[in-house]
Amino acid sequence: MTPSSRATEPAAPVSTPASNPASRQPRFVVAPGGTLRGQLRVPGDKSISHRAIMLGAIADGVTEISGFLEGADALATLAAFRAMGVVIDGPDRGRVRVMGAGLEGLRDPGLALAMGNSGTSMRLLSGLLSGQRFATTLTGDASLSRRPMRRVTEPLRAMGAEIETTSAGTAPLVVRPVANLHGIHYRMPVASAQVKSSLLLAGLYATGETCVTEPAPTRDHTERMLTAFGYPLERTPGRVCLHGGGRLRAIPIAVPADISSAAFFLVGASIAPGSELLLQGVGLNPTRIGVINILRAMGADIGVEGLREEGAEPVADLRVRPAPLRGIEIPADQVPLAIDEFPALFIAAACAEGETLLTGAEELRVKESDRIAVMAEGLTALGIRAEVLPDGIRIVGRGQRPDVFTGGRVHSHDDHRIAMSFAMAALRASGPVEIEDCANVDTSFPGFAALAAGAGLGIVEEAA
Ligand code: S3P
Repeated sequence: MTPSSRATEPAAPVSTPASNPASRQPRFVVAPGGTLRGQLRVPGDKSISHRAIMLGAIADGVTEISGFLEGADALATLAAFRAMGVVIDGPDRGRVRVMGAGLEGLRDPGLALAMGNSGTSMRLLSGLLSGQRFATTLTGDASLSRRPMRRVTEPLRAMGAEIETTSAGTAPLVVRPVANLHGIHYRMPVASAQVKSSLLLAGLYATGETCVTEPAPTRDHTERMLTAFGYPLERTPGRVCLHGGGRLRAIPIAVPADISSAAFFLVGASIAPGSELLLQGVGLNPTRIGVINILRAMGADIGVEGLREEGAEPVADLRVRPAPLRGIEIPADQVPLAIDEFPALFIAAACAEGETLLTGAEELRVKESDRIAVMAEGLTALGIRAEVLPDGIRIVGRGQRPDVFTGGRVHSHDDHRIAMSFAMAALRASGPVEIEDCANVDTSFPGFAALAAGAGLGIVEEAA
């Protein structure tokens, strides 16, 4: 099957698997079977790591970050602010010190800012940069350069920003200085935390009030962190407003472990008999816990221990044991709350009794890959029946049998979450699972293979 994009705001066509030997990447080879056991802490939350750098850079004072994700995406954000003159120490084992330059303290980087694979960097920065006195160009890798950017550039233009995209509405983005940004009241057509955050960051530099209304709840890390930095926000259900011209005061930020990275282990320990994992310090922001809600609805055994508040975010340890899973119709209200975890959830669905149906998830088609098409392709290659729908997928689970997947070769299409999801499938496969194009695992989960191997997954990372 050829991956395609049918979202309302189409991305350019998805690339075919890398067949050019010059573009060889690391690959995973995962032995069949095994269990996941022990305690582990997955790396820091990607969304929060980005925001800690961004808000720290424009705050007054020094922001001390711990638990920062040293993955390529968050490092792209860090490098961008360094290029704009912000003094940043680290990262050193998750510790970063950002010497805030204040709201008006960023400097012309004098070169294009490379965002790599990171949609969050590009979309949030396009808002923040719209309010600066210098022009910037934002570039991305092949995958990011196919992703839709009009969702941010159109409302930013409505605020008075000057931003150019390609004729396809994609990066590179050129953001030019304007005399004045003005606040708008914007009703987002898609539930996107990146769009919401981009407009709020532009709103810091705008005259008057900027309000964003969302069609469904999306992650609210920007709102929580702005509040923690002392910036006044007005929040009502489904809507957030702020006035430009305030100040941010630096605070220490402890970044929780990323629930999106924990998701692979939640699924792995749920499907592999004999497993028991304790995932430490996982961020449990209510706008991110769809993966737990959905897995529990499928019958998963996930316990929440030691729930606490760290910084502006709820955090807990998650204890996961295997359980018989059943297929479900995924509730519509959980879709935005689990948007990054569907590749892992599809692996769980294949191990469930009966069918799992996902609809209303067209956004998956414009992530780092077309995650519906690419997951269906990989599931099919491993012997699972999966029907692609315009806005979702139907997966026929194979239930309690030990060998749910056949083993075989799948392509991640340069998408980190696809690669890690299929690594977990090997726990219930009859043969080795080989996963191609794994370089981008480093964007969100550096050290994944070593951590997973330590917990019992038979994974070997073969160098390019
Ligand atoms: C993110 C928001 C989500 C998510 C992405 C990170 C963020 O994207 O998929 O991985 O940090 O704001 P959308 O805003 O496009 O839904």
